[in-house]
Amino acid sequence: MTVQLKTINADVKDLTLNRNKQTILADISLQLSSGDFVLMTGQNGSGKSTLLKVISGLIKPDSFSFYKNSLKTEPKKQSWSAARKYLRQNFCYLHQTPYLFSGSVYDNVAYGLKRRGLSKDNIEHLVNETLQKISLQDLSNRACNTLSGGEKQRVAIARSWVIRPGFILLDEPFSNMDKRSRSTSYDIINQLKEDNIGIILTSHDAHNGELNFNKHLHLYQGRLRQKNIIFV
Ligand SMILES: Nc1ncnc2c1ncn2[C@@H]1O[C@H](COP(=O)(O)OP(=O)(O)OP(=O)(O)O)[C@@H](O)[C@H]1O
Ligand SMILES: [Mg+2]
Repeated sequence: MTVQLKTINADVKDLTLNRNKQTILADISLQLSSGDFVLMTGQNGSGKSTLLKVISGLIKPDSFSFYKNSLKTEPKKQSWSAARKYLRQNFCYLHQTPYLFSGSVYDNVAYGLKRRGLSKDNIEHLVNETLQKISLQDLSNRACNTLSGGEKQRVAIARSWVIRPGFILLDEPFSNMDKRSRSTSYDIINQLKEDNIGIILTSHDAHNGELNFNKHLHLYQGRLRQKNIIFV
């Protein structure tokens, strides 16, 4: 049994979310397809994290039309519970300060594979391969609570990567990183892209030259401004 990467074509329309009578997200429409490499920008409080959490099925919006794989089959509007199932399976949200389970680096990366019922040998192969990709193979047996912030971030990426989700949503992954950690993370993110994993990354910088995004979404007061040109 192997972990297959699924093709994603998700179409979100007219997404709105209010909290305490305040509009947090309004009239958001966007299409996400396998291999998209999206930069999401916006001021503090513009709604970036909230939008990523809705896209990964963690927060229920007030209104929302959702169509999946609409390029292949006749578009069919999904209920929130159907949409949430699809989003949770295919869009993996990574918090800025990731939560890792107690236990070793290996245990954390293996967790999702165990839940999917893969054999021990298969799990070992996939976990070691992924730890190698992120240069953490030497820390495989290390307890996660002894890792640095940058190392934890890499373990969190590995834990998502190993289950090969359609998309990984990285919420301000560079904010606590020094230059060296950033450079390692750029390499990792570019490898995810080469693996055809879609990425949405929130950041206040363009990362020109290091990350070649193919879409730029800008949020302003909870509304989306799609930009065609990336920081020229
Ligand atoms: N559960 C909630 N209840 C009330 N207001 C909320 C809730 N969650 C988020 N908000 C508000 O929604 C707005 C958007 O928050 P969000 O965290 O998505 O912004 P952001 O763009 O990620 O900001 P930052 O750049 O600071 O991370 C903010 O004004 C925030 O206070
Ligand atoms: Mg945020």
